[in-house]
Amino acid sequence: MWKPSERLMETIRHYASFPATGVSLRQMVQFGDRPSTGTLFRASQFLSEELPIRLAHRVQDLGELPDGLSEMPSIKKVQDWYAQSFEEIINLPRPSLTQEVRNRLLRPGRMNDGSPSKILSEATQNPSIREGQYRSSTTANGTINGNGKSAAAAAAGRRYFVPADGNVEWPPELNDYNQRFSRTLQQIKRRHDSVVTTVAQGILEWKRERQRMQIDSTIQSFLDRFYMSRIGIRMLIGQHIALTEQTHVKHPNYVGIICTKTNVRDIALEAIENARFVCEDYYGLFEAPKVQLVCREDLNFMYVPGHLSHMLFETLKNSLRAVVEQHGADRDQFPVTKVIVAEGKEDITIKITDEGGGIPRSAIPLVWTYMYTTVEQTPSLDPDFDKSDFKAPMAGFGYGLPISRLYARYFGGDLKLISMEGYGTDVYLHLNRLSSSSEPLQ
Ligand SMILES: Nc1ncnc2c1ncn2[C@@H]1O[C@H](COP(=O)(O)OP(=O)(O)O)[C@@H](O)[C@H]1O
Ligand SMILES: [Mg+2]
Repeated sequence: MWKPSERLMETIRHYASFPATGVSLRQMVQFGDRPSTGTLFRASQFLSEELPIRLAHRVQDLGELPDGLSEMPSIKKVQDWYAQSFEEIINLPRPSLTQEVRNRLLRPGRMNDGSPSKILSEATQNPSIREGQYRSSTTANGTINGNGKSAAAAAAGRRYFVPADGNVEWPPELNDYNQRFSRTLQQIKRRHDSVVTTVAQGILEWKRERQRMQIDSTIQSFLDRFYMSRIGIRMLIGQHIALTEQTHVKHPNYVGIICTKTNVRDIALEAIENARFVCEDYYGLFEAPKVQLVCREDLNFMYVPGHLSHMLFETLKNSLRAVVEQHGADRDQFPVTKVIVAEGKEDITIKITDEGGGIPRSAIPLVWTYMYTTVEQTPSLDPDFDKSDFKAPMAGFGYGLPISRLYARYFGGDLKLISMEGYGTDVYLHLNRLSSSSEPLQ
């Protein structure tokens, strides 16, 4: 089994002293659907520094968990994955470029439409994040890192999107490097597929060994940071692979994995169908409780469809489960769950209203903690179950709500829940449509 050397750990500590650099959704779509080899190369260069910084933070964080949690075998395993991926990126050989090519890479290019490029350098505060909850660094302007050193020097010149001239020939080394870089990222993405379940496994090991019933606020905030960072890393990796492989080009309106015209109604209908299917299967129902959707047909906005599907699927499964358990699986008619989509200037808000009996007020804070569930028997943790990012069982891991809220917050949205005990629950999913908010980091 792979183990990090002491020297590698030292390099990791060095990288972990630099702050991560946030990238907004708007910056991610500036690439357009067919970025040039030079533009992709500049992005590869940015990522070959940015990803190791983010991975290094996670290696350190995993090593500093309290109460013996860092010593659990599954936590160690995950830490090694992060260290190994770190090593693979920093060891990837870079092409040697002639001075002429270097100069050309630095020369500002033009946008896809031929207009001179306007690089977005500043990102706005992510509105769903409390001050101090995550340290979110602005892009080009320096922030102060943990050691109090100004990171301005480190951040200067490090930009994700820099358009390089598209109408010129680039030497083949550049394209070769882009391809190699993308393959390395694919390998890393696959390695980290089962991080969520393996960390959950680690927490279970710790609960058993230390006889702990609940996770405290230190571990809760560690998990929030950790999974939020994972969303960001996978977003950057997924985006870069898609742009390099051009897999998205067949689909109109896509830039990498971002859809500039995500149709809310289509995604909601699909999530409803999937949640009802899982519900029928789980309870052995002839027909799952009905869901009514109120949404303008042509309501589109820029988003990652996979994230939206995930959040809707999770909240709908919760509502359907509550409805079935409140009214009894032997009923042949259930109250209808309503999904209402509202369109504002700032937000698109989706309200999911069920008559599933609600949640006692004292349990509301608990629904946001990892591994809190009212399912009696937690299904066994199959390490392969989340091989695809967006597949999950009916209920029982207690990860549905906290992870969905992270997805919402990642792009400046939020997830809120209001319950009427004895009647039902309203879940509000706010999605920020301005999409210039910065990533919440660390
Ligand atoms: N719409 C809802 N109505 C009633 N209870 C809910 C609802 N949504 C969530 N809950 C409660 O919150 C708990 C945690 O939900 P979640 O994080 O999705 O984990 P899981 O579904 O795996 O239990 C559920 O077990 C349930 O007790
Ligand atoms: Mg759930």
